[in-house]
Amino acid sequence: MRSRAARRCVCGGDEGCRRKARTMSEPAVFEKRLLVTGGAGFIASHVVVSLVKNYPNYLIINLDKLNYCASLKNLETVSEKENYKFIQVIKASFPGNLTLY
Ligand SMILES: NC(=O)c1ccc[n+]([C@@H]2O[C@H](COP(=O)([O-])OP(=O)(O)OC[C@H]3O[C@@H](n4cnc5c(N)ncnc54)[C@H](O)[C@@H]3O)[C@@H](O)[C@H]2O)c1
Repeated sequence: MRSRAARRCVCGGDEGCRRKARTMSEPAVFEKRLLVTGGAGFIASHVVVSLVKNYPNYLIINLDKLNYCASLKNLETVSEKENYKFIQVIKASFPGNLTLY
């Protein structure tokens, strides 16, 4: 049985918080997962940053192929956040194949 002290809430809330408590080794449980394509671009990078900061209970997944105009610079403030995940697309053709890095 796990000790109560080893558990912490997803949001860091107190004992009154109703979100699922978890240990450090368990993956975070998110209410929703939001997929943003082209999230390393000029416009969508700001969308991603806003979503990550304002919705800590949502997992924000940024799927981008990092072409010439992409930049991860705008995403530095959220790159280490628990509710943010970046995936580089190597090749995408829809409908059909999606190759991820
Ligand atoms: N004012 C500024 O400093 C500035 C800077 C950059 C862009 N802009 C302008 O902003 C406007 C639009 O910017 P934007 O954000 O819509 O476009 P963007 O070109 O900045 O970003 C598009 C993003 O989509 C990604 N992408 C492209 N194809 C993809 C695919 N198949 N799968 C996954 N990801 C893919 C790219 O890698 C890129 O990160 C343009 O007019 C541009 O000139 C302005």
